[in-house]
Amino acid sequence: MSPAYRDVDPSKSSPVVDNLRRSMRERVIGQTEAIEAILRMYKKNLAGLNIPGKPLGSFLFLGPTGVGKSELVKAFAEGIYGDSSKVLTINCTELSEDHFITKLIGSPPSYVGDAVEPILSQENLDRGHTDKVKISIMVFEEFEKADYKIKKLLLQILEEAVLVTNKNRKTNFERAFIFMTSNIGLREIDVSSQPGFKPAKITSDRERFEKTLLNVARREFSPELVGRVNEKVIFKPLSLAELRLILEVQINNLRRLILGQASTRQGFPQFSLLITEEAKEYILGLGWNPKEGARQLRHVVGDILLADISQLVITEQIQPNDTLLVNLDSSKLKYSIQAVGAFPEALFKNRRSVRS
Ligand SMILES: Nc1ncnc2c1ncn2[C@@H]1O[C@H](COP(=O)(O)OP(=O)(O)OP(=O)(O)O)[C@@H](O)[C@H]1O
Ligand SMILES: [Mg+2]
Repeated sequence: MSPAYRDVDPSKSSPVVDNLRRSMRERVIGQTEAIEAILRMYKKNLAGLNIPGKPLGSFLFLGPTGVGKSELVKAFAEGIYGDSSKVLTINCTELSEDHFITKLIGSPPSYVGDAVEPILSQENLDRGHTDKVKISIMVFEEFEKADYKIKKLLLQILEEAVLVTNKNRKTNFERAFIFMTSNIGLREIDVSSQPGFKPAKITSDRERFEKTLLNVARREFSPELVGRVNEKVIFKPLSLAELRLILEVQINNLRRLILGQASTRQGFPQFSLLITEEAKEYILGLGWNPKEGARQLRHVVGDILLADISQLVITEQIQPNDTLLVNLDSSKLKYSIQAVGAFPEALFKNRRSVRS
């Protein structure tokens, strides 16, 4: 006789969700709470159980600068569309003036002159749509800078998922994931110098700290707006171990860039890039700035290291199939081309795990 009930398990993994999680984690180190918050809303969309008349999901990302808030929105877009540039990004610093509301919804019907095409048109919102993917992703960056009218506008979007733009056109947000990012309550506070906000304090009094931050957000953005947001996530400051992993991500991005150029641009040499642990620690030292998260690290890899490598390419010191070795010598980065078949000794000296 068959039993009356069959146990089911909501923690059973789904390949689609697992793949999205993996791809976001590859690009964004740590911040797992925020990744899971996105996945919670995404699952509802996959099941078709999102609430009609509301956006697919809304998120308030709070936290210090340079810790992955904007990067995660891009990582989500990359996971969804395979292209992180498909996000409709609204930078609120450019919208702090009252009249900039016309930039978002267009000029009023009575307006004579050049009609401004609204940023929040349906076409713009749905720029990432393909035959298979019918999801829109939009982000309000530095939301604390937004004018109160824009905050009111967003409240309406979250409440009704519809907005009337100029010429009486409607933009529907029912297929949209909407993000707001902000440093509210943090940019003003020097995290490392304020007695109440020392990093150790942030960890030990995490809950109290998060409550305080959310209260600041309620005060600044209105309790109604914060109340309507589905997921409110406080991003964590990055640890040194996480910065090491971020450096690995950035070095891999560099390798991808080289490979991409070699496969599409004639005359660009395809070469391998090896960086010793000592050189990585040196780069970390240059890029480690607790007040800026990983922003400075990106500058060191993306600008300084890349400028040196570019110089080697344009002076034709790198040939196809070379291996470029970046080492440390007398407290400076030293570049050498490794002879074919040579054992890269420098790589194995004092080797240690990047996770340590
Ligand atoms: N957790 C992370 N994982 C991987 N890379 C990161 C992470 N945090 C920051 N970065 C790197 O640092 C850069 C800046 O981070 P990001 O733009 O996400 O900052 P943010 O948290 O949005 O800060 P802000 O509040 O100043 O806008 C990213 O482009 C990325 O290269
Ligand atoms: Mg940002």
